[in-house]
Amino acid sequence: MNQPITVAICGCGCRGLEAYAPYQKMNPDRMKIVAGADIRPERLELLRSRYGVSPEYCFDSDEALLNQPRLADVMIIATQDRQHVGEALRALEKGYHLLLEKPISPKLSECIALQQKAHEMKRQVIVCHVLRYTPFYSALKQLLERGDIGRVETIDAVEHIAYWHYAHSYVRGNWRRLEESSPLILAKNCHDMDMLRWLAGTECQRLSSFGSLDWFKAENAPEGAADRCLDGCLCKEKCPYDAERIYITNPRTGVRYIGGNWPCSVLTNQVSEENIYNALKTGPYGRCVYHCDNDVADHQTVNMEFAGGITATFTTTAFTDACHRTIKITGTMGEVEGDLEENKLSLRRFGETEQIIDLGTITSEFAGHGGGDMGLMDALCGLIATQSEGGLTSVDASVESHVMALAAEYSRTHGGKVIELDAFAKQA
Ligand SMILES: NC(=O)c1ccc[n+]([C@@H]2O[C@H](COP(=O)([O-])OP(=O)(O)OC[C@H]3O[C@@H](n4cnc5c(N)ncnc54)[C@H](O)[C@@H]3O)[C@@H](O)[C@H]2O)c1
Repeated sequence: MNQPITVAICGCGCRGLEAYAPYQKMNPDRMKIVAGADIRPERLELLRSRYGVSPEYCFDSDEALLNQPRLADVMIIATQDRQHVGEALRALEKGYHLLLEKPISPKLSECIALQQKAHEMKRQVIVCHVLRYTPFYSALKQLLERGDIGRVETIDAVEHIAYWHYAHSYVRGNWRRLEESSPLILAKNCHDMDMLRWLAGTECQRLSSFGSLDWFKAENAPEGAADRCLDGCLCKEKCPYDAERIYITNPRTGVRYIGGNWPCSVLTNQVSEENIYNALKTGPYGRCVYHCDNDVADHQTVNMEFAGGITATFTTTAFTDACHRTIKITGTMGEVEGDLEENKLSLRRFGETEQIIDLGTITSEFAGHGGGDMGLMDALCGLIATQSEGGLTSVDASVESHVMALAAEYSRTHGGKVIELDAFAKQA
């Protein structure tokens, strides 16, 4: 039997420790975590207690881990957006293959530098575009490749972020400020850019984009709103964004119902109602959504043209009740539409009876991004074990999605200007 591939995790937060590390428990013969780094000692403690990583291989910073000789086959890089590229370049120099969280970098020049370094070092860089590994999008891709709807003409996709998720991540949380993270269309939607490119099967040539931060700012605060939800806010009762409602009493997101799961797990290391209340009293997640220091867009639309004439639209919006992605594709012989969360596709070939493709009857692997997180880990282990090249979400493929997202942000902030992607990438 082959040895499991060995892994070092740089950044043992939600993604590093909760999304990717659990693969070891399910597949101990395929992956073994041998080292890790985090600046939070309690996360290293979890790495030790859950995965048996020896204390001498638990490092208190990315720097300390990267100062070691290469300790594993693969480094998983799951720190925050602006840390990825520096860590990745150093890890490649050490000879690691990489599983790299998105975005590669908010700077296109750095994305391209990493791509070149990966080729120079002859190492695999798999970027975590988890959607490509979901049963839902895999089935959709196969359907298009079979020609079930003829030649693809249009694609319309929507990311429904959900009002509470947007408030959590993009108003109060880690992805609220451009200078600390990246634009919404890159941070949240480079996945969607990647998906559109993949499904179109041909490169995006030009695009334009509109959108803004319209709602989550001081001028929209209702009369009587306090700076913090627990500080005598007079608008609490009617405010859907009230932090107490989101983190304590909402059946979908509140600690009384979901316990230590995300998003409550982000507020405190020891999730309890008391600790969540304490976090709301003093921490960032208790702030009024109209009185934060956020500056990323809360809704945005991108219009795209792909080689061969396929046109596409993509909308991302904070203002939805549920958190899901929808897509509709039309072709010369039919149309197909679906919802990632429902895991169903409706195929209507012109002149024929509608066919419902229920992916729930084919697989039950839907946890973690519709099954994408574990699918990605399977693919990673397969690639490294067989010393294959490329993979479904290679750095080359990922850079294309970053070009699209960064061009969309440029267009959005320049009056919706049409951006030719070839020229845009060359200027990087
Ligand atoms: N692929 C996806 O679908 C997906 C989904 C969510 C988030 N992400 C991306 O994954 C990345 C991580 O997100 P997260 O939600 O896990 O964030 P997180 O804050 O929970 O995790 C980041 C971890 O990095 C640690 N860290 C910070 N500085 C460090 C340093 N100098 N050295 C070592 N560790 C350090 C933090 O303590 C934290 O534990 C982000 O870039 C995010 O955009 C990707």
